[in-house]
Amino acid sequence: MTHPVLTALGLTGTESGTYLGNGEWSKATGAGVLEPINPTDGEALAKVHASSPAEYEQIVERAQAAFKVWRTTPAPRRGEAVRLCADALREHKDALGSLVALEMGKSKPEGDGEVQEMIDIGEFAVGLSRQLYGLTMHSERPGHRMYEQWHPLGIVGVISAFNFPVAVWAWNALISAVCGNITIWKPSPKTPLSAIAAVRICNEALKKGGFPDIFFLFNDAGTELAQHFVDDKRINLVSFTGSTKVGRHVGERVARRMGRSLLELGGNNAMIVDASADLKLAIPAIVFGAVGTAGQRCTTTRRVFIHESIFDDVLAKLVTAYKQVEGKTGDPTDPTNLMGPLNSPEAVQGYLAAIEKAKAAGGTVATGGAAIDRKGNFVLPTIITGLTNDAEVVQTETFAPILYVMKFKDLDDAIAMQNDVPQGLSSAIFTENLKAAEAFLSARGSDCGIANVNIGTSGAEIGGAFGGEKETGGGRESGSDSWRAYMRRQTNTINYSDELPLAQGIKFDL
Ligand code: UN1
Repeated sequence: MTHPVLTALGLTGTESGTYLGNGEWSKATGAGVLEPINPTDGEALAKVHASSPAEYEQIVERAQAAFKVWRTTPAPRRGEAVRLCADALREHKDALGSLVALEMGKSKPEGDGEVQEMIDIGEFAVGLSRQLYGLTMHSERPGHRMYEQWHPLGIVGVISAFNFPVAVWAWNALISAVCGNITIWKPSPKTPLSAIAAVRICNEALKKGGFPDIFFLFNDAGTELAQHFVDDKRINLVSFTGSTKVGRHVGERVARRMGRSLLELGGNNAMIVDASADLKLAIPAIVFGAVGTAGQRCTTTRRVFIHESIFDDVLAKLVTAYKQVEGKTGDPTDPTNLMGPLNSPEAVQGYLAAIEKAKAAGGTVATGGAAIDRKGNFVLPTIITGLTNDAEVVQTETFAPILYVMKFKDLDDAIAMQNDVPQGLSSAIFTENLKAAEAFLSARGSDCGIANVNIGTSGAEIGGAFGGEKETGGGRESGSDSWRAYMRRQTNTINYSDELPLAQGIKFDL
C-alpha cells in the first residue's frame, strides 16, 4: 500500500525519476530502479525508475535550448517565477515536510524546517533578482567609462545529499534561476521521492504562471550517469554537497575540464564552552547541535571543549538531557519525537564502528553507545569522553549522533584544538566574556566558514553565505553574495572620446 504521506503529494508508489521538460516525465522503465527505503521500518517506500543516458542527453539539449530564452528574460521577471515556486512550496509545506521526515528520517519539525528554508531562499532570491549588482570603476583614461556586469553562466548541475534532500537543491536552484541559469538536478539515490515531489511542486507552479522549464531532474541507478554529468562540458557549474572523499573527486574532474565547481563537503564542528558560559543556552544548543537530524547534518556538533572548572557539571547536565532525547526517539513523522532513525543500515554500521574505535582509543561512553533493538535504523544518542582531539576517530566525520566531549584550561588551546581538524565548516563559542567572544571571531580565532557566539553550530539561516574552509571545500551558497558563483563577471570599458589613449600611458604612434 502506498504510504499516505506519498499520496498526499500525488505520488503513487511507482514514479519516474526523470523530468524531461515540456511537462513530460519519462515513461521509460529500462534504466534500473531506485528503491527508497523507509529508515523507520526498513520497508521500501516506492519504486523510482532511473534515467537512461539517452534521457540525460535529451535533458541537457532541452536545458541548453531553455537557457537561450531564460538568459534574456529580465532578472526581475525571473524573480517572479521563483516567487511562484516559493508560494507553491508554502502551500505544500506540511506535506513535503512530512515526506522529507519519512524518507530521510529527520524529525517532522526538522522536515518542515527544511521546506521553510526552501521558501525563505525563494523569497531571498526574489529580492535578489533586482539586486544583481556590479561595480562601476573610474577609468584612468579620459572620456572612458568602466564597469562590470554579471551574466548568467548557463547550465548549473546540482548533486545533493540525502541529509537535506530538498533544501540544498533550493539554495542552488532558486538563486541560480534568478541569475538566469537552467538547473539540472541529480538527487541522492536514498531520497529520490522528496526530489520528485519538490520538482513537481515548482514545475507546476511555473507552468501555471506561464513560465518555461528551468528545472530538470534525473536519477541515476548507479554512478555512471552522475560521473558523466560531472565530466560534461555543457554543465557550466557543478554544485556538489556530500562527503569530502567524493567531493575531492568531483572538484578534480570538473577542474580538469576547466569547469566551475561549488563544493559543500564534510564538517567536524566544535563548540567551546568557557567558564562564564550561560548553561541555560549552552546545554540545549549542544544537544540540538549533536542529536538534531540524528547527527546527520554537515553542521552537526561533533566535538565540545568544556572549561575544566565546569566540566563535570556540564557533562552531567548533558547526560540528563540525552536521556530525555532517548525517550523521544522514534518515528520521525510523529511530531513529538526529537530524534528519528539514521538514514541507512550502513550508517548504523558506521556509528557502531566509530564507537568501537573510540573505546579502543581509550574513550568512555558517558551515555548511549548502542543501536536500539527495534525495526529500522535507530541508535542511541551518544557522548564519549576521555579522548584527545588528535584521536583518529575524533578527527573523522562520522555521520551519526556521537559527541566527543573534551576538557580545556586555556582559551587559546581550545581554539587551537577546535581548528586542528581537516574540516572547517561551523564552530561556536558559549561565553559571557566579550574578550573571549571577540578573540574567537578574530583572525586568530575560528578558521571555519561559520563562527557563532552563544548559538550552536547547526541550523544556519539562509541569509548568510553557507560553506566552509579546508576539506569542507571552500564553496559558499545560499545568502549574502553567494549568487556570484552562479554568474560570470564581465568587465566593460567604453570610450566615448575622439582619442584612443592606451592604458598604462603606453605610446603606440603609427
Ligand atoms: C547540510 O547539512 O548539508 O545549517 C546543510 C544547517 C542547515 C543546513 C545544513 N541550515 O544546519
